[in-house]
Amino acid sequence: MSQSFQAYLQQAKQRADRALNLYVGSFASPYSPADSSEYLARLQQAMQYSLINGGKRVRPVLVYAAANAINPDTSASSNADKVACAVEMIHAYSLIHDDLPAMDDDDLRRGQPTCHKAFDEATAILAGDALQARAFELLTELEECPAETQLTLVKILSTASGQQGMVGGQAIDLGAADQTIDLEHLEIIHRLKTGALIRAAVAMGAILANASTQQLADLDRYAEAIGLAFQVQDDILDIESDTATLGKTQGADQALNKPTYPALLGLGGAKEKARQLHQQALTALEGIGDSAQTLKDLSSYIISRSH
Ligand code: IPE
Ligand code: IPE
Ligand code: MG
Ligand code: MG
Ligand code: MG
Repeated sequence: MSQSFQAYLQQAKQRADRALNLYVGSFASPYSPADSSEYLARLQQAMQYSLINGGKRVRPVLVYAAANAINPDTSASSNADKVACAVEMIHAYSLIHDDLPAMDDDDLRRGQPTCHKAFDEATAILAGDALQARAFELLTELEECPAETQLTLVKILSTASGQQGMVGGQAIDLGAADQTIDLEHLEIIHRLKTGALIRAAVAMGAILANASTQQLADLDRYAEAIGLAFQVQDDILDIESDTATLGKTQGADQALNKPTYPALLGLGGAKEKARQLHQQALTALEGIGDSAQTLKDLSSYIISRSH
């Protein structure tokens, strides 16, 4: 990783962290202290716990970098922050629910107890629900942005999050535990549960920056490749890394007998797949030009990251 990219990544992550703090909101209770406000405060704590503490912020950084490839002024705007936070809030909600006992039943996330361990299951479910709602609310709060663009952003994020995207992928993923599935089936799971939101992050950044149809198509091919590569690397790290580095329990996939790329292709095959996807991502960016350098660096980061 070049020093300049490392510095970019750190700055973009800090920017996303600040924006998340700002936009998750304080949720001042509309009720008097005598009634239900302690429950609202607990819900808010759970939302902040899972949203603010840690996370690589890959999706917000992709929003900034995609916007920057098209128009640096848009990338620097508070609208880019809101779009970046909307995507990260969906991601945080997906992680809270992914860790629940009814799903992957994990105790550790980002080096801390998972939301349902730190609070309780009902609060974790509700914190995920509320983060999801807040994401879409935020997309209605863009400034000087045509209503049509806002609607397009809502459409992209909702489709990527729902049954045709992340949630659909999670449903198939749960159904596939203990099953023998082929590569085609596994690719569908990965493209939906993880790829869809990564694709949405890139598309939303580019649309905010008024990308042309051709630019959007190029960026989408890039995003499809890195979205799949991201989950391939996640599967590799589940085997190769350790719990302290990952901040989540190493070996969790094997314990649940989850279908993964290394399980189907072996570690070497999975790494080769990640390399091929990285190449596809670079090829897709050829038409965008020099302004896509950060996106290229992000692609190589995604398949070389250690957590
Ligand atoms: C983990 O995502 C879950 C997947 C979709 C693979 P990240 O690896 O982006 O997790 P954080 O946000 O950095 O904790
Ligand atoms: C995560 O897949 C997909 C979503 C949260 C949508 P994993 O179940 O592999 O993610 P980790 O490994 O728990 O972060
Ligand atoms: Mg899972
Ligand atoms: Mg999981
Ligand atoms: Mg995983």
